[in-house]
Amino acid sequence: MHLVAATDEQKVQRDALTYSAWGRLLTPEGYATREQLLRAHPWARSDMRTWLLRGEDGAVLASCETFRTGSFLRTAEGSLVPGDSFAIASVFTEERLRGHGYATRLMDLLAAELERQPRAHAALLFSDVGPRLYARSGYQELPAWDWHLSPTPGDPGEPVDSLLREGDLGRALGRMRRPEVPFFFWPTPTQLDWHLERGRIYVEHLGCSLPPSLGATAGTSTILWGLVGRSTELAVLMLDAHSPSEARALLGAARREASRSGLSRVVLWEEPSHAPFLPLLEGEGATRVARDGSLPMVRPLRPGLPLSPLLPAPRGLWV
Ligand SMILES: CC(C)(COP(=O)(O)OP(=O)(O)OC[C@H]1O[C@@H](n2cnc3c(N)ncnc32)[C@H](O)[C@@H]1OP(=O)(O)O)[C@@H](O)C(=O)NCCC(=O)NCCS
Repeated sequence: MHLVAATDEQKVQRDALTYSAWGRLLTPEGYATREQLLRAHPWARSDMRTWLLRGEDGAVLASCETFRTGSFLRTAEGSLVPGDSFAIASVFTEERLRGHGYATRLMDLLAAELERQPRAHAALLFSDVGPRLYARSGYQELPAWDWHLSPTPGDPGEPVDSLLREGDLGRALGRMRRPEVPFFFWPTPTQLDWHLERGRIYVEHLGCSLPPSLGATAGTSTILWGLVGRSTELAVLMLDAHSPSEARALLGAARREASRSGLSRVVLWEEPSHAPFLPLLEGEGATRVARDGSLPMVRPLRPGLPLSPLLPAPRGLWV
């Protein structure tokens, strides 16, 4: 068995098979169009690859995608050394081929391939099938807790200094503090826009509207959010809150934006840096739930990569 990068034609052939796993809400044609649109997005065009595991007879046994994602090592002096990490998505084995270890072999060969990349730091994935399959290939679980907040009526701009619009992604990311850990992933504005592109594709199937804002600022704090997939939720992509009161203002704006756009709730993926304001959320009726799927898992791609248990995996890194 060996690993190859898929051609454009092979990608389209895989779309016809992976529809069974990820086509919900869409017709097969709609799903094929979704895949083409997402692959045409600037982030995917520059940083996405589709990989095939081929048997000795050339048959495709399993497939997945990688998205190159920026990451940083923090030196003892505090400076940041950039490198490449890889988020892995859409691991798939056809039903008739399952249970023969093909997905495991794919993950092992892929890790060996990624380790050879000159600036490789780590691989990241979000498992929908629990941790065991990927733990076999060296991936470690990170915590996966979500906060669900109900929509509230009102003007989203009222509790905050400004609402963010398209074109503000770069400025917003630039305001956010980098995590105080020895190694972390950090997305680009184009990468965050890829999430919003998913929302643009799904919105017509969901009976809600596309939120007109994509985040907010309050004091020195910043939040980015969006409709990003198949559910009518406002997903918080990134949240950097300098104080509990600014966190309350930003999440208050998110709740109002969810209400204005006809969404069912706001979902915040808990990060270690959120600890100071979580008691406040609890007091306001938000609920903390164990995440259903999308379990973040990380695998170093170089010896000695310092993986902190406090490594954040915000929703903005998901693929
Ligand atoms: C998950 C999937 C890729 C596994 O492919 P595979 O080639 O059969 O994988 P392997 O033979 O290497 O390993 C199979 C293991 O995956 C586990 N697995 C498969 N589907 C699972 C599920 N939905 N929940 C939990 N475990 C699952 C099997 O129980 C088995 O575990 P075990 O060997 O410890 O008993 C395949 O079932 C698939 O394509 N599923 C649909 C798409 C999907 O959910 N992909 C994963 C996205 S994170």
